[in-house]
Amino acid sequence: MKVGFIGLGNMGGAIAKAVAKVDGVDLLLSSHNPVKAGKLQKEIGGELASNQEVAAKSDVVFLGVKPYQVGAVISDLGSAVDNHALWISMATGVALSDLAQLLPGHDLVRMMPNTPVAIGEGMTSFTAKSAEGRDLFKRLLAKSGQVVEIPESLMDAATAVAGCGPAFVYQFIEAMGDAGVQNGLSRQDAIEMAAQTVLGSAKMVLSTGQHPAQLRDAVTSPGGSTIAGVVALERDGFRYATIDAINSALKRNQELG
Ligand SMILES: NC(=O)c1ccc[n+]([C@@H]2O[C@H](COP(=O)([O-])OP(=O)(O)OC[C@H]3O[C@@H](n4cnc5c(N)ncnc54)[C@H](OP(=O)(O)O)[C@@H]3O)[C@@H](O)[C@H]2O)c1
Repeated sequence: MKVGFIGLGNMGGAIAKAVAKVDGVDLLLSSHNPVKAGKLQKEIGGELASNQEVAAKSDVVFLGVKPYQVGAVISDLGSAVDNHALWISMATGVALSDLAQLLPGHDLVRMMPNTPVAIGEGMTSFTAKSAEGRDLFKRLLAKSGQVVEIPESLMDAATAVAGCGPAFVYQFIEAMGDAGVQNGLSRQDAIEMAAQTVLGSAKMVLSTGQHPAQLRDAVTSPGGSTIAGVVALERDGFRYATIDAINSALKRNQELG
């Protein structure tokens, strides 16, 4: 199966890395930016091609350009899109109905990935127009991490939590690292401790199925040091700040959409 990519930036490149691990896939990489595309091709294989060639020859096309570029990029393809490819858009805020106007008659998937897809630890939400599109999409993303199908009406919420979420988690890890450095740890050790703590705690949530509050209670002994830290986070509005960050991201998504 030929799987093409138009737009190989942060997100398109991350998805291409995950799709390259799936058996039976030949990649066609858009050569719009020859430096980026060439570097990626060296890493994951595949063939470089123009946008038109990608559109004309692929069985599946991933569209990884910025949302405001989607209309112009598809219009520029002209008759190259007159085939039966499945088109998959990762553009934030671009609805299936918008895509259907640009690509009439095509099977379509709208996806919302995040960058950990590149290392097989992504969180991707998607909405598919057809059952065939859904099955093919899940097969292509099988090496990318978690994949969940949601109603399109929830795509903005998924975008704010999982698409933007990595930035919030990096900020948290950075802040934990700063506190470690302030208290004498080397920068490298402090960041490793913070990142592994986030990773291990996230795995505990996923593998035990327990509510995060139950897991927090299990490490919070009466009168101890952890509860002192938990109370300080409450005092400083940590949970409200997190909820507000996600709601602000969601609001901005809607404005951009
Ligand atoms: N980054 C995220 O975490 C994230 C998460 C979820 C969804 N998304 C979505 O993913 C899409 C890409 O975002 P990004 O962060 O990956 O942006 P990006 O790094 O700027 O990637 C966009 C890529 O598209 C290329 N491009 C521009 N015009 C093109 C054209 N006419 N033909 C072919 N390629 C073209 C750009 O090349 P040049 O560098 O040469 O301009 C760039 O490599 C967006 O729609 C965004 O909403 C991103």
